[in-house]
Amino acid sequence: MGKKFLFTLIACLLAFGLAACGSKESNGGNAAGAEKKKLIVATDAAFPPFESMSPTGEPEGFDIDLIKAIAKAQNMEIEVKHTGWDPMMAGLKNGSVDIAIAGITITDDRKKVFDFTTPYFTAEQGILVKKNAPAVKTVADLKGKKIGVQSGTTGQLLVEEKLGKGYSGLKGYEEVAGAIEDMRNGRIDVVVADNAVVKKFMEKLKLDDVNIIEDTSAKQEQYGIAVKKGNKELLDKLNKGLAAIKESGEFDQIYNKYFKK
Ligand code: ARG
Repeated sequence: MGKKFLFTLIACLLAFGLAACGSKESNGGNAAGAEKKKLIVATDAAFPPFESMSPTGEPEGFDIDLIKAIAKAQNMEIEVKHTGWDPMMAGLKNGSVDIAIAGITITDDRKKVFDFTTPYFTAEQGILVKKNAPAVKTVADLKGKKIGVQSGTTGQLLVEEKLGKGYSGLKGYEEVAGAIEDMRNGRIDVVVADNAVVKKFMEKLKLDDVNIIEDTSAKQEQYGIAVKKGNKELLDKLNKGLAAIKESGEFDQIYNKYFKK
């Protein structure tokens, strides 16, 4: 590096700061010696207590606290954006999104396109059903019922697995809240979604005429944080950050903030 170049670079840095002085960087992670790149974290902030929108329009919740703590531990700069579910997945594929965190269950199909961190949460599917409805125990018992799910989620996969792929009573929604709304006004009979989330909605909306049934025949699910397949550098950082906040007790603090019994 020539003296003159170095001088110009330092002058530029002093005058305009890092971003303006010709940084060239690839997507995700920081090349050794390069300055920090702001990483875009996408979420679908309609999934409390994991993510929802605060009254001032910022994503908040367990996942948001988690990714912020991981970023801090790894000295990464992040910006969390509420994109919605499908745009989040699409963005991760096309590179406009670096990291996705949204209570995303690690599945074999998703692992073909994304890489996931070590699991950070264990979940189950819950069936939200009116108290006066005939008893159900599993998703397989829901045959003949109108079932609402968030489209493209494991709730949909479970219903399709138990009742068949083209099951005519299945209705897909963009968000869990829309399905719950339709159940309340009688357009559908039940909602199948991640247990902790239906529970949170039940509390939030003070639904006292419903029950949540845990389908114990369904497999447990593990949430992971997703990056584009092959982005090993970024994945390693996230895994290291996750391990560090587990070690330091910060993970437990965040967990207890949202899931204390
Ligand atoms: N765990 C489920 C899945 O991965 C549902 C996740 C939905 N998350 C959300 N933020 N809407 O398919």
